Amino acid sequence: MLKIDLTDKVIVVTGGGTGLGRAMTETFIRCGAKVAICGRRQHVLEETARVSGPQVLPFVCDVRDWESVSQFLSHVVRTWGKLDAVVNNAAGNFLAASETLSPRAFRAIVDIVLVGSFHMSRWAGAYWIENKFPGHILNIVTTYTDTGCAFVMPSAAAKAGVQAMTLSLAYEWAMYGIRVNAIAPGSFPTEGAWSRLMPDAQMEQLYRQRMPMGRYGRYEELGALAAFLLSDLAPYITGAVIPIDGAERLQGASFNYLAQVADRETLKKAFQALKEASAR
Ligand code: HXC
Ligand code: NAP
Repeated sequence: MLKIDLTDKVIVVTGGGTGLGRAMTETFIRCGAKVAICGRRQHVLEETARVSGPQVLPFVCDVRDWESVSQFLSHVVRTWGKLDAVVNNAAGNFLAASETLSPRAFRAIVDIVLVGSFHMSRWAGAYWIENKFPGHILNIVTTYTDTGCAFVMPSAAAKAGVQAMTLSLAYEWAMYGIRVNAIAPGSFPTEGAWSRLMPDAQMEQLYRQRMPMGRYGRYEELGALAAFLLSDLAPYITGAVIPIDGAERLQGASFNYLAQVADRETLKKAFQALKEASAR
């Protein structure tokens, strides 16, 4: 029987304490890996590590900060002696009419998604090249990187940047044996995403009706794809951006539908209410 084996692989998952990062962490553990997770909230990381066991190493690290990233990855290498893979999963996102965005709001998203992925990739890539080690970077993007997406413009711009980084580094670092890939998930309900991206139950229902397979993605489906890509079953896959979305992207970019279902003032009020709710 062909199995995905990650025995003794040391994998870093940014944002591994919640949602899809946590789901991937749990899958990697089941395949035999050791996983270091980071995020900004210590209690969230410790809870995930407590449930998953000693193969999970929690570390508070803000990916926007180069010093914090250096400390995190140095700690992983000191603890486990090596680093096999980095999963750039940490992200920020919210719904907003773009003409209302403050410069800080735009930067908040770009700094986590694009700058954070650069920090992790830069540290790991230099480490692997110096140590002649064939590492792997797996970036979690979105299906709207090629199309853009209404009402989540900073995320679309930042994720498109991460996609470009994926393709650039895949070619540049292929000669070192370093693989660089991306997964573009469709819709996988998580607390982090749904609390910020679904204005209300009615709009969520309209959103769900767009799903060609009549359902959302399941965590284990994403976990299996990520584990496969990080495993020794995929040595020739690099420079790939793989959607896992049940063909949802063929309906159009995720949040464009909002422009059809409500007028702008109604949307702006709904976005403001979401912002206030997530600040509480
Ligand atoms: C408009 C907003 C806003 C909102 C914050 N800001 N939330 N603007 N609408 N909903 C503005 C603030 O007013 C402020 O600008 C600036 O952004 C920074 O705000 P902070 O609260 O200080 O930012 P920070 O603490 O860094 O938090 C970052 C965050 C937050 C992105 C705003 O939501 C967060 O921590 N998110 C992490 C988790 C997450 O977003 N998960 C969802 C991922 S889903 P001013 O000018 O007022 O000071 C995803 C793809 C899903 O990525 C695709 C599904 C298909
Ligand atoms: P989530 O649970 O909110 O995950 C985001 C994670 O990033 C959190 O654990 C958060 O932890 C961490 N994070 C945010 N800012 C950080 C920072 N500066 N430094 C370190 N960690 C930081 O949302 P999710 O749905 O699981 O999303 C995970 C990934 O999947 C993201 O890349 C997202 O874009 C992508 N995605 C999700 C969907 C979906 O349908 N859910 C669809 C497409 C793509 P802290 O807040 O504690 O820092």
